[in-house]
Amino acid sequence: MTPQGPVAADVLVENGVIRSVGTSLKAPGAKIIDAKGLTLIPGAIDPQVHFREPGMEWKEDLASGSRAAAAGGVTGFLEMPNTSPPTVTAELMEAKKKIAASKCLVNYNFFIGATPDNVEELLAVKNVCGIKIFMGASTGSLLVDKLADLERIFSQGRRLIAVHAEDEALIRENKTRYAGVTNVADHALIRSPEVALRATRIAVELSRKYRRRLHILHMTTQEEAEFLAKEKAGLPVSAEVCPQHFLLTAPECYDTLGTYAQMNPPLREKRHGEALWHALKTGVIDCIATDHAPHTREEKDKGFPHAPSGMPGVETSLPLMLNRVNQGLCSLAEVVRWMCENPARLYGLKNKGRIEAGYDADLVLVDMAREKTIENGKLQTKVNWSPYNGWTTKGWPVMTMVNGNVVYREGEFFTEILGREMTIDAIWENGGAFP
Ligand code: DOR
Repeated sequence: MTPQGPVAADVLVENGVIRSVGTSLKAPGAKIIDAKGLTLIPGAIDPQVHFREPGMEWKEDLASGSRAAAAGGVTGFLEMPNTSPPTVTAELMEAKKKIAASKCLVNYNFFIGATPDNVEELLAVKNVCGIKIFMGASTGSLLVDKLADLERIFSQGRRLIAVHAEDEALIRENKTRYAGVTNVADHALIRSPEVALRATRIAVELSRKYRRRLHILHMTTQEEAEFLAKEKAGLPVSAEVCPQHFLLTAPECYDTLGTYAQMNPPLREKRHGEALWHALKTGVIDCIATDHAPHTREEKDKGFPHAPSGMPGVETSLPLMLNRVNQGLCSLAEVVRWMCENPARLYGLKNKGRIEAGYDADLVLVDMAREKTIENGKLQTKVNWSPYNGWTTKGWPVMTMVNGNVVYREGEFFTEILGREMTIDAIWENGGAFP
């Protein structure tokens, strides 16, 4: 699958880089991978995961999370700062990158977390994919909810800003209103569509005011999709959606999954999922992320409102989307655009996301005819459960190559050669041009 569409061709890889794409390429002595009957796509890049290291390694770590990624056809990830301690200084960022270099099977980069008073640190870090702002509190302590603080970060923060767009004041108001509720479905009332829309509006206005590159993480509402469809043109704003927000629907998901369906922002009714899918198809939403946010079963079993929010997803997102291709709901070219090309383009990930000469050989072979059932207990994520437990889907990755090295094939991992830090195009260090 090239940027121009599907072709029947050979791909020559040398020193981890795609040298050429063409028919009957000759390369004496080269190792041949016979891909007959399979489809080669660029490795997916998951632009929002929580791999929990340092500090919460009982849920996940950079080794287990990146193995899960490799098994799911994800060759690169952008990881969130709500670890323990949170990644909010240049020093902590360097420490996290050092851990990643020692154990990540796929390629990586990291967000630095914004606090009300760390602008100097946001400016000091080098080669990071963006600044993460939790406008509403979620897992961990990160929160920037005062307008004056947001203004300062948007005006001075320089690089791309990615927002968890939920309005903290309204969440708190709703928590008082719904005090004492024990039904997990009420989670979506507390974190209502208005909670999401209010924060998204504020972030877009700040982006407009300061001409700051803005990415809206995990959008969840019809209202935000409609707002963005009107406002986005001409602004340096992009947006993402997670598969669970159009595949899992309230209230049924809360009946069947209980707190395992609880996440922030929440799973919602069908009309939202349909609007999000439409926004993705029409380019209002640019890319797909998973918000892979593992919590153990013991933690999830604490019941509402004590269970933490979040669900795993990094190893099931590509199969779920390939299944949608097989269902005739979208094309493979669209999936590649949403999961490979666009995350690379939006974050300025150098030489990533395309099968084209000069790009890195991060490649995935998929078998579009393969059927498999997603099963709790058979996953790579440490928590070993999935909200899609029992789903049989068609279209699966069978081989994952990172920088020219096969790291996963048919259930087997090859861990001798690790992934690398992805380079952010230099222009992005200074705010970037909107691609
Ligand atoms: O549900 C969520 N869980 N949403 C977030 O924004 C954070 C995540 C986590 O880290 O657990």
